[in-house]
Amino acid sequence: MVIGSGGREHAIIKKLKESSAIDALYALPGNGGIAADAICVPVGAKDLEGQVRFAVEHQIDFAVVAPDDPLVLGAVDALEAAGVKCFGPRKNAAIIEGSKVFSKNLMKKYGIPTAAYEVFEDADAALAYLKTAPIPTVIKADGLALGKGAIVAMTREEAFEAVRTIMVDRAFGESGSRVVVEEFLEGPEVSVLSFTDGKTVVPMVSSMDHKRAHDGDEGLNTGGMGTVAPNPYYTPDTARRCMEEIFLPTIRAMREEGRPFKGCLYFGLMLTKNGPKVIEYNCRFGDPETQVVLPLLESDLFAVMQAVADERLDTADVRFSTGSACCVVMASDGYPQKYETGFEITLDGNPDAEVYFAGAKLTNGKLVTSGGRVLGVTATAETLPEAITRAYQAVEHVHFANAYYRKDIGQRALAALS
Ligand code: AMP
Ligand code: GLY
Repeated sequence: MVIGSGGREHAIIKKLKESSAIDALYALPGNGGIAADAICVPVGAKDLEGQVRFAVEHQIDFAVVAPDDPLVLGAVDALEAAGVKCFGPRKNAAIIEGSKVFSKNLMKKYGIPTAAYEVFEDADAALAYLKTAPIPTVIKADGLALGKGAIVAMTREEAFEAVRTIMVDRAFGESGSRVVVEEFLEGPEVSVLSFTDGKTVVPMVSSMDHKRAHDGDEGLNTGGMGTVAPNPYYTPDTARRCMEEIFLPTIRAMREEGRPFKGCLYFGLMLTKNGPKVIEYNCRFGDPETQVVLPLLESDLFAVMQAVADERLDTADVRFSTGSACCVVMASDGYPQKYETGFEITLDGNPDAEVYFAGAKLTNGKLVTSGGRVLGVTATAETLPEAITRAYQAVEHVHFANAYYRKDIGQRALAALS
């Protein structure tokens, strides 16, 4: 069973379906589009008791816990206690994403390169510090905040405002009881997802997210409007450096802390002129990074996940194609703010691409929009320019009212290549 309901989960499910070792696949709760590939069960991603009950009743052999919320809440601990093997970190390791204060202190203790920072537990102290702190700066809520807890402040006034939003207005609830104030870094961003069993770490193909709502990286931050893989900024030299300075030290640090990390560890990196630095860790597959990374995986995903769970990743076969992938997210116009839903989604002809559904539900047998990010269209090809062209050609075959998508996914990557 796969816990979660987004495009990332759809990509995981489609890849798992290629494995001959799987008889039946359940999605908890999945969505109307995922229903074509797995049996959707109406148990929410945060309903840990419901997940355990379902797994026991249906004699589930293996569970993939994909989203951050259940991981941080301890879904893997609960399922393992009930005898279900899992892919995903336990609660004591998921904290690497669940608390920015934890991850920053971990990096400081083990000398892992990251932005310099200060931690504040009350708003007055944070505001006093910001009166003289270097600007721009970055203010981050300690806990989970739907990916919106980091505010880049370009002026001192914006920095004060960010502290008020997070700590006084509690825009992200309890996540804002502590903040990290961070040095502003510059450089290309790279996402590297990795498989790790707590001892061995195997990076997947690198990728590039497009977080802003509009073309040219303008507009509000979103959950991600598109991705490409591999990321051309991530050269073999940089990859070697990241392995030595970041990936291996992180895995070692977590083990030494008595928090071995098993699952997918996501490294959000910034390639600064002083070398690669960690912007964030996620305790899970990225969304929409997964939608370009897994289509390039040539090995059996289920076999790799089992090897992670059994702590024998060193013997597993993890191979990626040398090709490229591009995912264009089609959203409801107005996302990430106000938008309308309930419009029928149709596909004409053969899109010659994978369609991963996120905000889609079945109503009277029809697939209709039900969220901000509706779906992602992923094309793969030998080269990046070809993958981008094919993804946009496929988008032409997908229809729903009020559809919005960026027209420039991959353009920054192409510029880096030329
Ligand atoms: P996070 O939620 O930590 O991934 O941050 C969201 C986004 O804010 C990142 O993808 C970066 O674009 C930006 N960001 C986070 N931390 C920094 C930093 N220290 N310097 C510059 N930009 C940052
Ligand atoms: N795409 C960024 C994330 O999954 O957090």
